[in-house]
Amino acid sequence: MKVNQAEIVISAAGKKQYPKEFIPEIALAGRSNVGKSSFINKMIQRKNLARTSSKPGKTQTLNFYKINESFHFVDVPGYGYAKVSKKERAKWGRMMEEYFAEREQLQATALVIDVRHQPTEDDCVMYDYLKHFELPVMVIATKLDKIKKGQRDKQLKLVADTLEMDDGDQLIPFSSETGEGKDAAWKKMLEYLNS
Ligand code: GTP
Ligand code: MG
Repeated sequence: MKVNQAEIVISAAGKKQYPKEFIPEIALAGRSNVGKSSFINKMIQRKNLARTSSKPGKTQTLNFYKINESFHFVDVPGYGYAKVSKKERAKWGRMMEEYFAEREQLQATALVIDVRHQPTEDDCVMYDYLKHFELPVMVIATKLDKIKKGQRDKQLKLVADTLEMDDGDQLIPFSSETGEGKDAAWKKMLEYLNS
């Protein structure tokens, strides 16, 4: 997929700020620091359009990126970071609920999981939450460059089994470092966007 155009539309703290434009959207989801923003950058071949950091909690708002004048990628803040106050966690919950429960443009989601670890309880809750809204979920098993080739099958099975993924949802091994999995992820995204 050739990306000719990619720009930030808005960093939204609430629904009043969401873009009005009626083009399809694909939203990210996943733990803090798992590599959601890096996934977006790799997919659209921009080094740091979606801001990344080695510290968790970099993305704090819903960031809408318009791609090829045809769809929005929506970057979101992660969950599961221990050093977050109760108040901040509640704010996160409201921000997500408002988006995932109500956004008509939302076509599909990409749940990003670190392939090195078993998905957490939070990951399982997030997957079920997205399915509750009947959203297609592509599971991006990222940081593939960080495990040995011989461990891949075992780790991928662990991810799929722990999440109890639906048959219709695809698990995509991915690395934002090497770009592995990029073609498979685009293929799936184009299916979602054209359906
Ligand atoms: P929050 O916005 O805090 O929720 O984090 P995020 O999920 O957007 O993570 P981000 O993309 O900022 O990446 C976190 C860290 O992981 C950064 O240091 C990235 O360079 C690194 N990282 C992300 N993806 C990969 C990958 O595929 N391989 C390797 N080796 N590092 C990665
Ligand atoms: Mg981020």
